Amino acid sequence: MSPIHLAILASGSGSNAENICNYFSLRSDVKVCVIISNKPDAYVHQRAERLGVLSITCSKSELTDAESFLKVLKDFQIDFVVLAGYLLRIPAGLIKEYPHRIINIHPALLPKYGGKGMYGDRVHEAVVEAREKETGITVHYVNEDYDEGAIIFQAVCPVLEDDMPETVAYKVHALEYLHYPKVVDRVLQKEFCTTGKSVIL
Ligand code: GRF
Repeated sequence: MSPIHLAILASGSGSNAENICNYFSLRSDVKVCVIISNKPDAYVHQRAERLGVLSITCSKSELTDAESFLKVLKDFQIDFVVLAGYLLRIPAGLIKEYPHRIINIHPALLPKYGGKGMYGDRVHEAVVEAREKETGITVHYVNEDYDEGAIIFQAVCPVLEDDMPETVAYKVHALEYLHYPKVVDRVLQKEFCTTGKSVIL
C-alpha cells in the first residue's frame, strides 16, 4: 500500500515541522513529502535541508488562491496537510477539497487567545498579562476562520505567578513536541484507516 502523503506548512522556525519529520522518518505508512513555506528565508528550510526533506517556497498569491494551492498539493499527491506555525489563511476552496484533512496547532487553549493576529509571542504575552493560571496547546481542524475549526485535542500546563512570556513559550513548546506528532498520527490512523469521518480524540 502506498504511504499517506503529508505536506507540512510552516512560515517560521519550523521546530514542530522538524519534530514531525523525525517522528515519521522511519515509518513506511506515512511520508512527509514536502514542507511548504511562504517565506524564502524561514529557518524551516535549513531544518528541512538537514533532514533531507524537500522544502519549497510559494508566493502569498499562490497560497491564498485555492486553485493554485491545490495544484501544488496535487503535484505532490498530498493526502493530508499539517500546519505548524503557518501564518496565512487557508483558502476556502482548499478546505472543501481536503475535508478533515487539514489540521493546525495553536499555542493556547482555544477558544481563548485565538483569532487573527494571535500568534507567536503575542499569545503568551496575553496569557501572562491576563494572569491565567494555566495555558496549553490546541490541535484543531482548519476551517475558513482563524483558529475556529473543531477541536481535536488539548493539553494543559500551569502558568506560575512569576512566569514570563518566554517561560510560558518554553512550556508550551514542550507540550507541542510531546503531543503534536502523536495527535497527527492518531488522526491519520482514524481518518484513513477506519470510518473516513472526523475524529475527536
Ligand atoms: C508553535 O508554537 C505553534 O503552536 C504555532 O506556531 C509556533 C511555531 O513554532 N502555531 P515552530 O516554528 O514550530 O518552532
